[in-house]
Amino acid sequence: MDEYRKIADIIKERGYTVAFTGAGISVDSGIPAFRGGQGLWEKYDPMEYAHIRAFNSNPEKVWVMLHEMSGVILDAKPSPAHTALGELEKKGFLKAVITQNVDGLHQAAGNSNVIEYHGSHRWFICLSCSKRVPLTHDVVDLHPYPICEKCNRALKPDVVFFGESIPMEAIIKANEEAQRCKVMLIIGTSGVVYPAAEIPHISKSAGAIIVEINPEQTPFTSSITDYFLKGTASAVLPNILAYLK
Ligand code: OAD
Repeated sequence: MDEYRKIADIIKERGYTVAFTGAGISVDSGIPAFRGGQGLWEKYDPMEYAHIRAFNSNPEKVWVMLHEMSGVILDAKPSPAHTALGELEKKGFLKAVITQNVDGLHQAAGNSNVIEYHGSHRWFICLSCSKRVPLTHDVVDLHPYPICEKCNRALKPDVVFFGESIPMEAIIKANEEAQRCKVMLIIGTSGVVYPAAEIPHISKSAGAIIVEINPEQTPFTSSITDYFLKGTASAVLPNILAYLK
């Protein structure tokens, strides 16, 4: 299809490409997105289950959701879209992935410069002693929830809960990559959560071409997107890659 060739040509000509990804890229890996029909926030009110106050005051309740998410993430494998981004890096075009996702699937697909803006669910952390424990079925299945052996406090997935700050290192690195890129691929994000949603605006202001891949339009589409490719990430990205081989 002509539009895939066009995007491949832009990537070839302009070089330094960065991807900004959201939950949509992991839908084909079996991880539900947050918003919309099957979204996690339809089932669990984020203020009751994903706010740091809720975690601290009632970890047992919050662990109902975290247990479910942990199991889904542990079993998930990279989608064709993740794999295509891995290939795009191998070919020298993709220099960084800035992701709002916490599932670790970009790293599993071979991307080496992944900026996890909302942290990682592949690790747990004790908020008292900062000890980190990797996500495994053994840890997740502890009842009623995993605790730090030393502090006796509930272990928290090392993700950014509502009411928590974005890690400073992620902010700095994401801003650098957003400034530097010549092409930004916005993939599978609704673009409604800030400050993450500012990142593509930084790229646009710095002169990058903005390519958006999503089955639905978003606030980016009519404001900063130069090329909108309607479709799932796993349908679109391998087609672009095919023109870069
Ligand atoms: P959302 O659930 O808000 O949006 C998912 C986007 O993916 C929507 O625009 C869908 O149209 C699109 N989508 C669905 N299936 C797709 C597919 N197969 N391929 C491509 N796109 C698809 O998820 P995010 O934008 O990632 O933050 O949400 C941003 C943040 O809100 C998350 O990081 C999370 C959440 O609250 C925290 O938990 C801090």
